[in-house]
Amino acid sequence: MKERPTVFEVLQERGISRRSFIKFCAATATSLGLSGKAVQAFAQAVGSAPRPSVIWLSFQQCTGCSESLTRTYTPGIENLLLDVISLDYHETLQVAAGQQAEDAKAAAIAKGGYVLVVDGAIPSGAQEWWSVAGGVSNVGALKEAIGGAGLVVALGTCATFGGLPAAYPNPSNAKGVGDLMASDPSLAPALAKLVNLSGCPPIPDVISGTIALYLSLVSQGRTGELPTLLDELKRPKPYYGKTVHDTCPRLCHYIAGNFARSFDDAGARAGHCLYLLGCKGPETFNACTTVKWNEGKYFPMLAGHGCLGCSEPDFWDKKVTTTDPATKVKTFIGGTSFYAADAEDKVPLTPEATKCA
Ligand code: SF4
Ligand code: SF4
Ligand code: F3S
Repeated sequence: MKERPTVFEVLQERGISRRSFIKFCAATATSLGLSGKAVQAFAQAVGSAPRPSVIWLSFQQCTGCSESLTRTYTPGIENLLLDVISLDYHETLQVAAGQQAEDAKAAAIAKGGYVLVVDGAIPSGAQEWWSVAGGVSNVGALKEAIGGAGLVVALGTCATFGGLPAAYPNPSNAKGVGDLMASDPSLAPALAKLVNLSGCPPIPDVISGTIALYLSLVSQGRTGELPTLLDELKRPKPYYGKTVHDTCPRLCHYIAGNFARSFDDAGARAGHCLYLLGCKGPETFNACTTVKWNEGKYFPMLAGHGCLGCSEPDFWDKKVTTTDPATKVKTFIGGTSFYAADAEDKVPLTPEATKCA
């Protein structure tokens, strides 16, 4: 008897229609840049993969990444991720607690071949014991689980690059998973199976799409190809290969030189570019403008706010030189032009701008 049912078998067992699954695979395959027969092959490969076991470790984080996961919409987190995936350990979502939860984790680790998801940054060095669960430090928990993982997903900018916990002055000496692994010889070999999904939080459908991509590689015996699908920051190229600026609907205004000078001026109301208001879109690689948020409908620039660069390393500190928190927030959110409301209504519409949808 097989040890684990396939994804298809679990879908049938749970009464999830093949149609829903194909819809999910088609949407995911499109976001991965697949088309034609490759979409069918992708669905077949995902469906015939063994049901994955997932161990989810939460370190210095705000739970926003787990919140994001529960906003996956096609065919629904309850169907795809909580029913199909065997989520064997997740401190926030699991029913089990205490020893029962620890036993479930130990049993899953003993079986091996699981997907290890880590959210949150990891306190290190002299501060290693600043974050502890079940008498084990975060570094210790990572070491326990990493060896048997088939895939390690650092989820969210805290886990990928340190994020908010690592922002100046970084009191807990927080590190992202990759940095910690690179600095520890006992963890470094696992770097080959690390995938970073940055973002604060990451886009829900990028999470489910990446897991589906991994499952398709597993069932085809091609997991060795995974590193070739990643950028230099270990992020999947289909999702992080372009900047949010590249496909921003305000790009034609950027090209035409039409910029909003304050968040409520005539330019802002006309959908002009938010670059002068601090938008970090041109240097931020993410799929917000293509995969989008909220059931594929929205992203910050569509809602009238510039990109904060949340999927990039050191995004909190990157463009800010001051260490004064109040000034930092002011600069980060609005740039110096945030307060230049005197420029209101002085932004002429150019012929190019009128072509902007
Ligand atoms: Fe929270 Fe953002 Fe860190 Fe995720 S990446 S845990 S949403 S602060
Ligand atoms: Fe680029 Fe931002 Fe302007 Fe959009 S709003 S075109 S992302 S600078
Ligand atoms: Fe983050 Fe920028 Fe997208 S702030 S959510 S990467 S538009």
